[in-house]
Amino acid sequence: MNKELKILGIVAAFTLLLYWGVEPFAHSQMHKHVEGHGLVYDGTADIEEASKDKKEVKKKFWSEVKEIAKLKGDATAGEATFAMCAGCHMDGAANMGGVTPPSLDHAGAIYDKNFLIALIKDPAMATNVDHKYPNGDMTHPMGSITTMVSAPQDIANVVAYLKAKKAGEVTPKEAFTEACGRCHANRYGKLTQLGEIPKTKSNIKTNQDIDRMKYDQKVATEQNALAEYLGKLPPDLSIMYRARSEHFLDTFIENPQANLKGTAMPRTGLNHEGFEKVMEYLAETGDPSAPARAMAGPWVLLFFFIFTILAYLWKQSQWRDLH
Ligand code: HEC
Ligand code: HEC
Repeated sequence: MNKELKILGIVAAFTLLLYWGVEPFAHSQMHKHVEGHGLVYDGTADIEEASKDKKEVKKKFWSEVKEIAKLKGDATAGEATFAMCAGCHMDGAANMGGVTPPSLDHAGAIYDKNFLIALIKDPAMATNVDHKYPNGDMTHPMGSITTMVSAPQDIANVVAYLKAKKAGEVTPKEAFTEACGRCHANRYGKLTQLGEIPKTKSNIKTNQDIDRMKYDQKVATEQNALAEYLGKLPPDLSIMYRARSEHFLDTFIENPQANLKGTAMPRTGLNHEGFEKVMEYLAETGDPSAPARAMAGPWVLLFFFIFTILAYLWKQSQWRDLH
């Protein structure tokens, strides 16, 4: 008896040591803790992480962004300049340099102001993937904007226009499509990189869905281009909400490099509203039966309540004659 208690004690002690000592230590070594910055884009983390020779360049870049942010933008003048953006960012835009420019319908609502300024000044720098373009022989697919719109006042005007142009309430799906959808599919949301999967019909004679095949081929072509541009195909985000913690998603989306050094995913520059909408969409598609489950709860309780009464009455009737 005594011996068994000792064995139990030793097993318990080792288990606790593993649980509270070894596991957290290993975790802290393999995943460094990443602090969020409250979805504020001022380059602090970029400058900190930059190599010695890049530090000054980044400091200068972000201080210029700060200066532009102080200018008062003229939304009307910005609308005219926006025509240059619309040249690439239009409905049915074609893939360019590996990725299709997203719709900017709600850009003013879902992106941070400083980020937008930085993006127009230098897309690679703003999205923190400048390490991909070290000697200028390859350019960012939005890179030509830096020569088209470069005067500080012009940048301030376009951003003022985007901020003023809030096209009504943003739905979670719109936020996802505009910010993530050009790279990430969401199978459970029936979205590919080309948008919503269209409904098609099988041909009765051949039992083949030719239209669906044509669509799948287009998606495959787009995905190939993306994989070429980014080095790999971005993962489907259907269940990412369940696979990763909210803290991870929060800090990863804010600055992918901080969590995964060297990753090809650009920073998307979402503000709080944009981030919350995207998370809402990921929650909706990652756990689609959650509302149904919550609805079923009261009915299950009601069932048990009625069942208890019936069981009690039945027991009374069975035992009546025996007493
Ligand atoms: C320009 C393309 C692009 C855009 C836009 C983009 N991503 Fe990504 N994302 C990637 C790539 C590429 C990877 C793969 C990263 C890797 O493995 O290095 C990735 C990986 C991820 C991962 C997986 C991280 C992991 O731990 O494996 C998550 C989560 C994610 N993206 C979320 C998002 C969300 C949410 C958005 C929209 C707010 C978004 N991404 C927008 C390209 C993109
Ligand atoms: C030469 C074509 C081109 C022009 C001109 C252009 N863009 Fe882009 N834009 C792109 C492409 C391509 C992407 C996707 C880049 C990527 O995912 O790596 C993009 C991405 C964006 C994004 C999403 C950024 C993110 O990280 O989620 C915004 C916002 C944006 N552009 C705004 C603008 C604005 C505002 C202008 C005008 C001042 C503009 N663009 C002009 C091609 C262009």
